[in-house]
Amino acid sequence: MGHDLVIVANRLPVDRVTTPSGETTWRRSPGGLVAAIEPVMRTHGGGVWIGWPGGTDQDMEPFEDDGLSLVPMAMTEQEIEEYYEGFSNGTLWPLYHDVVAKPEFHREWWDAYQSVNKRFAEKAAELAAKNATVWVHDYQLQLVPQYLRDLRPDLKIGFYLHIPFPPGELFQQLPWRRQILEGLLGADLVGFQLPGAAQNFVRLVRQRVGHKTHRDLVYLPDGRSVRAAAFPISIDAAGFEELAQSDAVTDRAKAIREALGNPTKVFLGIDRLDYTKGIYARLRAYSELIRDGHFDVEDAVFVQVAVPSREQVEQYRILRDEIDRLVGRINGDLGRIGRPAISYLHTSYPREEMAALYRAADIMVVTPYRDGMNLVAKEYVACRVEEDGALVLSEFAGAADELRQAWLVNPYDINGMKAALLEAYEAEPKEVTRRMRAMRKTIAQNDVKAWASSFMTELEDVSGVEHQKTVR
Ligand code: F6P
Repeated sequence: MGHDLVIVANRLPVDRVTTPSGETTWRRSPGGLVAAIEPVMRTHGGGVWIGWPGGTDQDMEPFEDDGLSLVPMAMTEQEIEEYYEGFSNGTLWPLYHDVVAKPEFHREWWDAYQSVNKRFAEKAAELAAKNATVWVHDYQLQLVPQYLRDLRPDLKIGFYLHIPFPPGELFQQLPWRRQILEGLLGADLVGFQLPGAAQNFVRLVRQRVGHKTHRDLVYLPDGRSVRAAAFPISIDAAGFEELAQSDAVTDRAKAIREALGNPTKVFLGIDRLDYTKGIYARLRAYSELIRDGHFDVEDAVFVQVAVPSREQVEQYRILRDEIDRLVGRINGDLGRIGRPAISYLHTSYPREEMAALYRAADIMVVTPYRDGMNLVAKEYVACRVEEDGALVLSEFAGAADELRQAWLVNPYDINGMKAALLEAYEAEPKEVTRRMRAMRKTIAQNDVKAWASSFMTELEDVSGVEHQKTVR
């Protein structure tokens, strides 16, 4: 008997890691996708999650982790290199993020992308019950919907892209642009973070594949229609709020401020160490405020957490070296004994420690050059239970569409960023609270449950209409 709900994502929610002493352990996978889907799976009993457990282990059996049914997909070293590091993160990732880094196009990467996508589709086809719902996630698996439809036309197939979908001018660089569009069209519903991304997709389908479209609908020659729409992703707001209010987190937040020397203001950045996140420019802007004499290392500290990510990809290694050098230089030039300008941590933390950091920080700084949504910005807002705390947010993060009361910045404009950081630093508490209160309302109303249920309801509706059409 198959499953009624199958989640297909590149990663499982847990990642198998080998410690320096050779032991293997499990750790929570990085990134926003896992943070969003995990609570959805928990509320949906009977679902199964297909994904890569990290590493190159072959033949791992399906297993349960903390109540979730997980089906590991093995990957060879060559597939990791060509499908994951190569086509997913060396081609699509930079292309879909405004070409912040130069995408590379290699035919063997494309071959690997196709064959891994095929394997994920075959596994989903094998595990799904009759008429089940399969929800495919993110840019690593854009061909799965069509492969899966070919194998199992009875399924309801949803696809959700967690990252931006680029405008035609950029997407058209891709030598395999048509195949990607056709892959996505295997779904009944294709979800994006923002309406602009859905419009980019529909326009490209019309121009490049030649299908008829009307508003958010694509009409396929076989009579099927596909809907493309925006579903801005969110977080488990109530869960974060509860965690942030717990005694353990409250005490830990105090301890963090003490360990930092109880400065007047704590700035905070938490990002995967990724070139799209704008970490370098943000730290430079901050250091210039100290250098220009606006405040001192006794008054303020910037805590930057950089979560290790895609460390085998060259551009990520280069970025790490650049940030290491910059932080060293800033602290060397501006720090005093026991008072660095930047407290830099290259590590990942569990939710509890993140919540404590959010509670300890007066000013959260989120300045990506391009970001699908950015859940860190939303988590910060959810954790500010006392309705204080300032958010400095890039206009180019999807979250900026909803969090209008943040101090919005253009991350390419260093002087503009300096001005916003300083304004947030000097803002009257009343003003900070006015803004935070409004943002907290937005987050409380649109949490991850609302996101998932609106996608699922829409998927039922689209494929329901479709089903009636075929029956008639
Ligand atoms: O949310 C975007 C995303 O790319 C996810 O698809 C991914 O799981 C996460 O960021 C972290 O990246 P990675 O899985 O490559 O470590």
